[in-house]
Amino acid sequence: MLILGIETSCDETAAAVVRDGREVLSSAVATQIAEHRIYGGVVPEIASRRHAEAIVPVVREALEKSGKTLEELDGVAVTYAPGLIGALLVGVNFAKGLSLSAGLPLVPVHHLRGHIAANYLSHADLEPPFLCLVVSGGHSHIVAVESYTRLSILGRTRDDAAGEAFDKAARAMGIPYPGGVELDRIAETGDDSAYPLPRPRVAGAPLDFSFSGLKTAALNLLNGAKQRGEEIDVPDLCASYRKAVVEYLIDHFLRAARETGMKTLAVAGGVSANRLLRRRLTALCAEQGYRLCMPELSLCGDNAAMIAAQGYYELLNGRTAGMNLNALPQRSIEEG
Ligand code: KG4
Ligand code: ZN
Repeated sequence: MLILGIETSCDETAAAVVRDGREVLSSAVATQIAEHRIYGGVVPEIASRRHAEAIVPVVREALEKSGKTLEELDGVAVTYAPGLIGALLVGVNFAKGLSLSAGLPLVPVHHLRGHIAANYLSHADLEPPFLCLVVSGGHSHIVAVESYTRLSILGRTRDDAAGEAFDKAARAMGIPYPGGVELDRIAETGDDSAYPLPRPRVAGAPLDFSFSGLKTAALNLLNGAKQRGEEIDVPDLCASYRKAVVEYLIDHFLRAARETGMKTLAVAGGVSANRLLRRRLTALCAEQGYRLCMPELSLCGDNAAMIAAQGYYELLNGRTAGMNLNALPQRSIEEG
């Protein structure tokens, strides 16, 4: 089955053609990051306008690269939640028009389910059940993937998401948006024991996360140093902060693995590109006998191949939408 995926939930306009949820025939991504950088974050209205400009050329590019025609497709999968509403609506409306004119089923896909499905593209033999650490710019979840379309949240963040925690600390250090990527690169040259940082706990919920305390501790270090006229060593702070976030994520994730007895683990979302997270998890999983799956780097960030992959499984499960499909800024991954 050939699925065309469309993704416009944040600052990437993307389209892709995927066969049977596993094989990427083409993937096109037009990023707006440079444009949002001057504002220090994504400006929703600018994002919507850029999606409106880019959607047709990006979909055309994905179709051309795949060597397939619209007639050969079996469905159009589109991210409909969660995300920036104006941005989502561009993709949803475009997908509706295409579905209507080409007579193809319209498949609504939850963005985070898509991130998880990036693993199906990178690991041909990965099948549920497995446990997934989903860490993006907007969400941090520990998810039990019971089947392709039945997922349950075991742990979640109470405040900031992991990517947000990276981006905010980076911003305070003067690193341009999206700071998480650059913070990770700079951290490679720093001493990760230079600045002690807390490992927050959420009372009574050992699998939940709270990143705001960690972020505040980093901000206090920066402000305190400034007031005293001292210099903060940016690579050292990046390394210390990255270590704190990554150890915290892994600690909870492996606790969930022990509690559930699941032996196959996966990571997903933009933060799954983090170098330290990948290195540490690889080492710990090898040591403790877990199978670890991670998306290849090109599939960690937002893309449409992952949406087409999940769309395939949603369609197999009978999930289609009518022409009244709406976009939703918030929606649980469990509801799909
Ligand atoms: O999944 P994603 O591309 O978009 C959302 O769905 O939110 O995630 C973007 C987030 C940003 O916060 C970005 O800073 C973070 O992922 N990110 C990273 C790295 N690459 C992307 N954070 C830490 N280390 C990285 N290498
Ligand atoms: Zn994402």
